[in-house]
Amino acid sequence: MKRALGIGLLGFGGVNRALAELIQQHQANQSPMDLKIVGVSDIYLGYALDPDGLDLDALVQISCERGALSVLGDPEPNNDAVIRSAGCDIVAEATFSNMEDGEPGISICSAAISQAKHVTTTNKGSVAYGAQVLSTLAKENNVCFEYEGSVMSGTPVLGWARNCFPGVRIEEVEGILNGTTNYILGRMEQGLEFDQALEEAQANGFAEADPTSDIEGYDVRAKVMILAQALFGAQLQKSDITCQGISSVTASQIERASAQKERWKLVARIENSGEKIIAEVAPKRVSEGDPLYGINGATNALSVKAGPLGSAMVCGPGAGRLETAYALYADILKIAKQIESKR
Ligand SMILES: NC(=O)c1ccc[n+]([C@@H]2O[C@H](COP(=O)([O-])OP(=O)(O)OC[C@H]3O[C@@H](n4cnc5c(N)ncnc54)[C@H](OP(=O)(O)O)[C@@H]3O)[C@@H](O)[C@H]2O)c1
Repeated sequence: MKRALGIGLLGFGGVNRALAELIQQHQANQSPMDLKIVGVSDIYLGYALDPDGLDLDALVQISCERGALSVLGDPEPNNDAVIRSAGCDIVAEATFSNMEDGEPGISICSAAISQAKHVTTTNKGSVAYGAQVLSTLAKENNVCFEYEGSVMSGTPVLGWARNCFPGVRIEEVEGILNGTTNYILGRMEQGLEFDQALEEAQANGFAEADPTSDIEGYDVRAKVMILAQALFGAQLQKSDITCQGISSVTASQIERASAQKERWKLVARIENSGEKIIAEVAPKRVSEGDPLYGINGATNALSVKAGPLGSAMVCGPGAGRLETAYALYADILKIAKQIESKR
């Protein structure tokens, strides 16, 4: 019989709901352990706890109304109770991403790791500002801190870039890491003005009501901080990264580029000389031969330049509740394998 692995969900919005659905649908999965959701806490919905495993059918049906988790537990949130629960082995943190300083996500992850719980998170803020501290704390507590979903959602780009280039120095990474801006630039190529393309992106659910973080490049800057930490061990601050968004790109610039078979893209770039890390986010004209030229719509891509290989690229979904939940799910299976291998 498989051993049970208890999962606590912190935040129960789009991503962690989708994770609950994935676990419900894949109960007879390839996991070496039997996955159970033992606790959920959400600032708006309340909390529920059952060390034997919550009823997944009931959990995925919970409404989005304030206090809705009272059906299974309590209308008030209690992150601490979930973290401290003896049945909880892994915390899946999917609360609010604070792009200014990573809080309260960093404190939530830190509290869980300090209780010797493994943590997986999709929270871009916590990882951008806290990855180094949290990874060190995890090592000290002999647990895992994973964050695959914080860059390019379910596309396993961190694992790929970290694990698939042994023996060579990654000299440069370049990517399109924000689907909203790539969609807007694409629609501008088809004749829309910036404001029209943004409005359309909002109407189609690609852009937030407040699109500042996407448009001004702050979302990509956080992902650059995450990549710099994951690939080069460098904890960059916001001020270390030159950051320009796409609000200054005009329809006529796009038209001129198209006439010369070039495209405007919002490009994230990290250069690693071996001694120094240089990082920037900026709109850039890319030519037909560039691997990023053919990346369309909401798709994201990361290209890695390393040693004798030259450039290699991965592209795939960069957002979406289910895609991002898949990253949590994959992290959980990875942690389960590690736990089993240590038995
Ligand atoms: N959705 C995606 O495509 C995607 C992709 C990559 C990364 N992410 C990141 O993944 C995380 C979750 O995304 P999501 O789409 O699920 O967001 P969401 O739908 O807004 O869900 C987050 C939930 O967490 C709750 N919450 C906020 N602060 C909390 C706290 N301190 N303790 C407990 N619960 C708290 C929120 O309540 P309130 O709404 O009342 O604040 C909300 O119900 C975010 O950090 C996001 O940036 C998402």
